[in-house]
Amino acid sequence: MLSKFITIEQALKKKTGEVSVRGWVYRERKHRDKVFIVLRDSTEIIQAVISDKSKAWKEANRITMESSVTLKGKLKQDKRAPTGYEIAVSELEIVGLAEPFPIGRDLSEEFLLDVRHLALRSRKLTASLKIRSTVLGVLHNYLRKQGFIEAEAPSFNEATSEGGSEVFELDYYGKKAFLTQSWQFYAENFIPALEKVYAMAPSFRAERSKTRRHLTEFWHCEVEKAWCNMDEMIKLGEECIIESVKAVLKSNKKELKILGVEDHLKKIKAPFPRITYEQAIKTLNKNGFRIKYGQDFGAREEKGIAKLHNNFVVVTNYPLEILKFYHGEDLKNPGTGTNFNFFAPDVGEVLDGSEREIDIEKIKKRLRKAKIDLGTSDWYLDSRRYGNVPHSGFGLGTERLVQWICKLDSIRDAIPFPRTPTRIHP
Ligand code: 4AD
Ligand code: MG
Repeated sequence: MLSKFITIEQALKKKTGEVSVRGWVYRERKHRDKVFIVLRDSTEIIQAVISDKSKAWKEANRITMESSVTLKGKLKQDKRAPTGYEIAVSELEIVGLAEPFPIGRDLSEEFLLDVRHLALRSRKLTASLKIRSTVLGVLHNYLRKQGFIEAEAPSFNEATSEGGSEVFELDYYGKKAFLTQSWQFYAENFIPALEKVYAMAPSFRAERSKTRRHLTEFWHCEVEKAWCNMDEMIKLGEECIIESVKAVLKSNKKELKILGVEDHLKKIKAPFPRITYEQAIKTLNKNGFRIKYGQDFGAREEKGIAKLHNNFVVVTNYPLEILKFYHGEDLKNPGTGTNFNFFAPDVGEVLDGSEREIDIEKIKKRLRKAKIDLGTSDWYLDSRRYGNVPHSGFGLGTERLVQWICKLDSIRDAIPFPRTPTRIHP
């Protein structure tokens, strides 16, 4: 019956004439002599009306919310319609008649997460998922354009690079194994082979508590580059964020409008203000926080620093005692690291990196001090034994970046199916 379908977005651009579209019934309202539907496809929504004079009248009265339909009709402008146009339907076919849809108004956050596979159809979630897609695409494209080679590492690991209690342990055919927390051990060993590498892959963290910015599985964009110092790596991190923002402003105008955000993206400029850990501590204490030198920042402090600058802020040179063994020491500022963190307003830490320690003796000393035994993962240090070179890298939490771009209340909406300590369904 129906021939050439166009998308709803194309129909809205066409403005007049006859169109055939297909999609899902987003809303429906039945009157005595008219049925109104709002049809949704992945591009847009449009109102359609079926009058009792139309031969589609009978079919229209069977329609339920979220049924899939194809329809044909004449376009006309209608200021009252949600996207300004309406289709006067002449032909209608229900492809999949939907059972009563469980999602209505005023449902709890938890219920919506229980039916996440259905909630994904909401305009806000599709908007943030489209923005997520733009961001991931940009990171791949930008890094490849800069000559980085995508090189993957396994998710099942014998050891963990980040350590701590936030590690998922599992049984691997009778052997103890862990889900990867970071690609870093592999990254540093790619250096002599590929020099400039990146990966986009899930990292796993057995976070203890549920927060608005932690997932137990997140997509980690990690970068490692040979012959590269801290300054260059910070610039690359800034570029990744600026390029993402530019692309979203260019390609996702509609989605930003649906989410009601945009202004904060236009304000962001690189280079980001850069301060040392010591300066950050002083600034925080001057502004009502209470934090001692040697303490790590929590969410409150991270967001606080960014808020005070009303921008992304790069904090460098943390005390070595609170850094991982692989971060380098800044010889100009002994006792502090050649490391950096990017803090975003409202989110806090989005990116974490460093110029790596390349002195194997210093690494061994720090491992001993931290009581870490690399065991069979001592192979990691071969990057220092066979063709050691200065190198730097970082890890960017893609959901944290999307959370900031979309101004999402929770990181959960920056990923289709969030995993948190209390959620593995659906
Ligand atoms: O700060 P992290 O733990 O650093 C590393 O894993 C380094 N090995 C990265 C590297 O140098 N290659 O994690 C990096 C980033 C954080 O800045 C944060 O944005 C994100 O990953 N992240 C999380 N995102 C969501 N949920 C969590 N539980 C996260 N933990 C870290
Ligand atoms: Mg970190």
